[in-house]
Parts: sequence; structure tokens; C-alpha cells
Amino acid sequence: MLNFELYNPTKIIFGKEQIEKLPTLVPANAKIMLAYGGGSIFKNGIHDQVLQSLAGFDIVEFGGIEANPHFETLMKAVAVIKAEKIDFILAVGGGSVIDGVKFISAAVPFEGNPIDILKKRILFKEGATVLPFGTVLTLPATGSEMNSGAVITIEATHEKLDFGGSAMFPKFSICDPTVIDSLPKRQLQNGVIDAYTHVLEQYLTYPHDGYLQDRIAESILQTLIQVGPAVVENPTDYALASNFMWSCTMALNGLIQKGVPSDWATHMIGHELTALYGIDHARTLAIIGPSLYTVMFETKKGKLAQYGKRIFNLTGTDEEIAHAAIAQTVTFFHTMGMKTKLSECTDDYQKAADFIVNRFEERGWKALGERQNITPDKVREIVERSY
Ligand code: NZQ
Ligand code: ZN
Repeated sequence: MLNFELYNPTKIIFGKEQIEKLPTLVPANAKIMLAYGGGSIFKNGIHDQVLQSLAGFDIVEFGGIEANPHFETLMKAVAVIKAEKIDFILAVGGGSVIDGVKFISAAVPFEGNPIDILKKRILFKEGATVLPFGTVLTLPATGSEMNSGAVITIEATHEKLDFGGSAMFPKFSICDPTVIDSLPKRQLQNGVIDAYTHVLEQYLTYPHDGYLQDRIAESILQTLIQVGPAVVENPTDYALASNFMWSCTMALNGLIQKGVPSDWATHMIGHELTALYGIDHARTLAIIGPSLYTVMFETKKGKLAQYGKRIFNLTGTDEEIAHAAIAQTVTFFHTMGMKTKLSECTDDYQKAADFIVNRFEERGWKALGERQNITPDKVREIVERSY
């Protein structure tokens, strides 16, 4: 097992009717920015619940943080925070609102041009000055409620860039599984597939001796396969909703990545498809993942075979099982309402490979993946195979 340090200070408050605990979680006498997205929290009553719970607190609201949050929008929130002397941010939303708030939190005290946080991928280490924030999660998917990363889009240049660091963990996150009742089917499907792919990024690498990490990763995959199709049909079923929500958090709170290699190239390529075509984050992963596993088959076949045996009970030679495991993954993605070809999502698909390879070369990303062997040629092959 590789050496590792594990640090995760986010307090999770999980369960029904937990939003009422907000007054015990936010700092006493804090002036709070309540940050939210396009307005779903007004329709499903979460906005009311938050305001009732925080009655008596001085609150300034900032809405309109879009899916795949824009740097340009977030900078407006930074200006409001400075003008209003706000000292705590409460993100109420999915990954986009939470990621957006992470950026706002870093940008408010940042000395210099905040765009450099993204362009220079500044690392905010433990102890760095950032504005504290907490979250009320409304969409299980990204794990952003319990991790220290964020992905922000610069609208002007159509770039989707990530940043983070151990100063960027939420102080707390309220995870109430009943919030998923109001999610459209499409977003429930996205949540399952985003979390599933988060596990695969940290699991489908090469055989290693992190046995426990593998078993935890496999149990998250099995739970998502068990509850995923059902929760889309029955989001009010609390057993399904709670297991779905906790699986998403566990898939990307850092735990299964410790002491083992990880890949993340599916995400890096997928982010470009969102930047280029506006395809939902999870749906880009369903397009890229299977072709990446196929192109990188020689590197990944040992783990693909383990995955095929333990998750899908496949039999045969390791080579056969590894191929069949990719096919089973595609079948699961289809069951979850995903399309797995770019041409099914846009007519303008043929420019994707050139665009992505050029972007990666400009950024000096010449060696991705767990073995650093996903070169620009491989990226091209992966993208073209996904057409
Ligand atoms: O904006 P509102 O009106 O709230 O509507 C949202 C949005 O339209 C809606 N929604 C959220 N909760 C709802 C709801 N609708 C009804 N009822 C509810 N309870 O769902 C839509 C999508 O929301 P969004 O936050 O964009 O989705 P998600 O949580 O999937 O986040 C995606 C973003 O997270 C990034 C992605 O790149 C993307 O920008 N990621 C962040 C990661 C991280 N921080 O660790 C890792 C991920 O891999 C990912 O890259
Ligand atoms: Zn993701």
C-alpha cells in the first residue's frame, strides 16, 4: 500500500429533518450569504426550510449559480460579500452550487487576480485564508459536500478547470436524503453514474495491494447497481434514497483513493465535452469511460478482470472477463438512461478530438492516467472511439 495522509474535517449531518440543526452549525452572530442555483429550492420547499431554521440570522441571498458554475457569475457574489461584509457562506444546492461556493470562498480574500485560482490551479493548503462555508446538499452525485475540490467554467473561453486543497472542505454538510424527491429523473440518473465513475477512476487502474480500498470501492459499486435503477423510479423510498446519497458521498470523499493509484482521465476528457457541447457532466463520463477502458485495455486488464469477477460474477479467462466487464458497464450505463456515443448527443461531434488534444497540449497535459501513459495520441483515440 502506498503511504498516505488522510484529512477530512467536514462534519456530516445525515438524515431526515436535519436542516433544522442549521442554527447550531453556523457561527453565532454570523452574517450569512445563502447561495443557490436556478431556483429549484423555491419549488421543493428547501429554501423555506433553511430560512425558517435560520430565523434571526442576518442573511443575504445570492441566486443564479448555474449548472457548471461560471467564474463570471461567481465574481458577482464575491463583490456582494465584500460590500456586505459577509463572514459565512451557506451553499444550498448540488455540486455546481457547492463548487461555486468553494470558488467564492477562495476568491474573497485572494490577493491577486482570482482567475489565476483556476488558470494557475492554485492549491489552498490547510491554514490558507478562505471564507468559511457549509452546505445543504440537494443533489447526490459529486461528493463535493465532503471533498475539497471544485470545477469552475470560465464562460469567456469555454474552459472548465478545477482547483482545491485541504482548506476548501466545507465546515459541515447537511445530507437529507428526502431532498431527492423533487429531482428530475435525468438528474437522479446523472448522480448514480457520476458516483459510479468516481469509484471507477480510483479502482480501475492496475492490481495493487490496497485490498481494503478495493473492497470498499467494490461495495460502493454494488450498492449503486442495487439502488440506482430503483431510486430513479422511487425517489421517495427512504432506503433507496439514503443509500444512494451516502454512496455518492463515499465515492468521492477521499477515502477510497488513499494508498492506491488513481486515473481521472475520463473526468479530464469529459470536462472538455461539457465545455464544448454543454453535455451534463455525468453523461460525458458515460461517453468517454468505456472507450478509455478499451483503448487502455493492456494497462487496465488486471483490474477489469477483478471488477468483472467481483461485481458481475463473470467467468472465463481474465482477458475474456475484462472485455465482458466493459460491455456490462455499458449495459449498466444504458439501464441508467445514459447514451454512450458522442454522436447520440450532438451532430457536431467530429471536432471534439482535435479540440481536446489541442487543449491538453496547450496545458502540457501529455501523460495522464495511473501509469502516465495516456498520451495525446491515446486521448485522440479515446475521443474518436467514443464518436
Ligand atoms: O440550479 P437549480 O435550480 O437548483 O437546479 C439544479 C440544476 O438544474 C437541479 N437540482 C439540484 N437539486 C435539486 C434540483 N432540482 C430539483 N430538486 C432538487 N433537489 O439539478 C440541476 C443540476 O445541478 P448541478 O449542481 O449542476 O448537478 P451536480 O450535482 O451533478 O453537479 C455537477 C457539477 O459538479 C462538478 C461537475 O463538473 C459539474 O460542474 N463536479 C464536481 C466535483 C467535485 N467538486 O468533487 C466532482 C465531479 O466529478 C464533478 O466534476
Ligand atoms: Zn464526476
